[in-house]
Amino acid sequence: MLGVGALFDAAAPDYDGARRMLVPGFDGFYGAAVESVPFGREEPLRVLDLGAGTGILSAMVAGRFPKSRVTLVDISVEMLRVARRRFAGEQGRFEFRVMDHARKPLPGKPRGYDLVVSALSIHHLTHGDKRELFDKIHGALADEGWFVNADQVLGPTPEKEREYGEDWLRRVKLAGASDGELSAALARMKADKNATLEAQMAWLREAGFGSVESSYEDGRFAVYGGRKGSRRRKEVTHD
Ligand SMILES: C[S@@+](CC[C@H](N)C(=O)[O-])C[C@H]1O[C@@H](n2cnc3c(N)ncnc32)[C@H](O)[C@@H]1O
Repeated sequence: MLGVGALFDAAAPDYDGARRMLVPGFDGFYGAAVESVPFGREEPLRVLDLGAGTGILSAMVAGRFPKSRVTLVDISVEMLRVARRRFAGEQGRFEFRVMDHARKPLPGKPRGYDLVVSALSIHHLTHGDKRELFDKIHGALADEGWFVNADQVLGPTPEKEREYGEDWLRRVKLAGASDGELSAALARMKADKNATLEAQMAWLREAGFGSVESSYEDGRFAVYGGRKGSRRRKEVTHD
């Protein structure tokens, strides 16, 4: 089986066109991720987007926070190639790093990021790697920084999980996905390692995040996150 980087290298040229079909509730899902960032519009945020792909979420965050600077990280050269093109008119505001965020230290030292975001990427990691990544994200944030993850989740019971899968397929077909788009998405989904929302929120708390909550849940898709407090351990015990 192809590695995740190769899968997305192959998907890159047609990736943006198929997104609205393959992510039911696209606007609500990405909108909730951006809306849940509790910073003022004019703040000069330092932002890290993990598994940024072609830059869909980065573009929304950058639009919402016009003084922000964004570092896009992805394992796929081809996905980042599309992202470079997307942001070509705004030289200097966007930085691109081809790297495996599960295996390498995150950038951003020594000041740290105000905001780490991710969409539809962390579910590709094993659960152990997800937990390690949450630790690394906590370390990469400045005090009072926020992490927001918009991602696929596993159903909390086998029945719910089946429901999520059936609901996704029904909505994607209704949206008009072609057989080719559907089979390419299903092939990519074989590499998914979804975890329940509850487990992921618990792992965030274990990593030291406070104010952990979800702001959007629609079947397979959820947005959740938390804040890096300067009083880290105290918050964990009272959550
Ligand atoms: C479904 S795409 C999402 C892209 C973008 N965030 C979006 O919302 O459209 C998942 C992305 O995560 C990247 N990815 C998966 N595992 C990764 C890893 N370990 N390190 C860095 N990027 C990874 C893939 O290459 C791909 O571009």
